[in-house]
Amino acid sequence: MHADPHLKLAQAQVRGALRGSGYTPAVKAFFDETTFTASYVVHDPALKRAAIIDPVLDFAQRSGRTSTRSADLIVDYVRELGLKVDWLLETHAHADHLSSAPYLQEKLGGKLAIGREILRVQDVFGTIFNEGTDFARDGSQFDHLFDDGDRMEIGEIPFTALHVPGHTPADMAYIIGDAAFVGDTMFMPDYGTARADFPGGDAAMLYRSIKRLTQLPDETRVFLCHDYKAPNRTEFAWETTIGFERTANVHVHEGVSEDDFVAMRTARDATLAMPQLILPSIQVNIRGGHFPEPENNGTAYLKLPLNTL
Ligand SMILES: [Fe+2]
Repeated sequence: MHADPHLKLAQAQVRGALRGSGYTPAVKAFFDETTFTASYVVHDPALKRAAIIDPVLDFAQRSGRTSTRSADLIVDYVRELGLKVDWLLETHAHADHLSSAPYLQEKLGGKLAIGREILRVQDVFGTIFNEGTDFARDGSQFDHLFDDGDRMEIGEIPFTALHVPGHTPADMAYIIGDAAFVGDTMFMPDYGTARADFPGGDAAMLYRSIKRLTQLPDETRVFLCHDYKAPNRTEFAWETTIGFERTANVHVHEGVSEDDFVAMRTARDATLAMPQLILPSIQVNIRGGHFPEPENNGTAYLKLPLNTL
């Protein structure tokens, strides 16, 4: 390793996150088989304070109809356990599902947060969708924007936000006690990693972000944003450990160089179609999960840019 000042800072922040590893939050996963997304409720069992991570709003593309069926499962769980929601955390502006964070915030409270680099994502997609001046590109749709290494608490459990770009420029991982919510960086060890070919994506950056995450202690519980079932696996899975990822991830196990990873990732991404819901998802998620303003007939519309992506 060379004396890159950014790397030094990164290591200090990962060490900072390690200080939280003696605490064990309760984690409940909600897996949406339509979009292959795992959402989480994580809480401090002693103080019953909670965060909700990457919640899904159901969307039927053929009819353009949304539903809160998945989100209501989270509402029921939070109410049953009597939790107080402090945070609604997005790991990034998702391209495969709409966020239900505004609905959950209305029902349960909590501050909606994402990484500060969402400004770049808003800028890029604001241009792609030719959004007008009423679409603010300053992150003001969120209550809080995290910088790399920000630390706070959920109840008494320490919580660190790490900037892990690559899949998008704004991806964050949230390290809460001994649990790491890694968003779209690594997937299950037998499946590999997230794609890095969306506007603003960067495979080399993704590699470095993953290497940063694998500095966490081996026993750290890792909770993924998606699972697509690896070939030969019959069940969905969304939890593993840093130790397994570090030693056995098919794309980025120890010994895979950055150049090898970038070559593999770039070749693989060239074969992937755009996600089914990228156009509706991004338009809603860059607004913090809010729909565009309704037109003068009271209906909100989404755009379909032709020959752009
Ligand atoms: Fe994603």
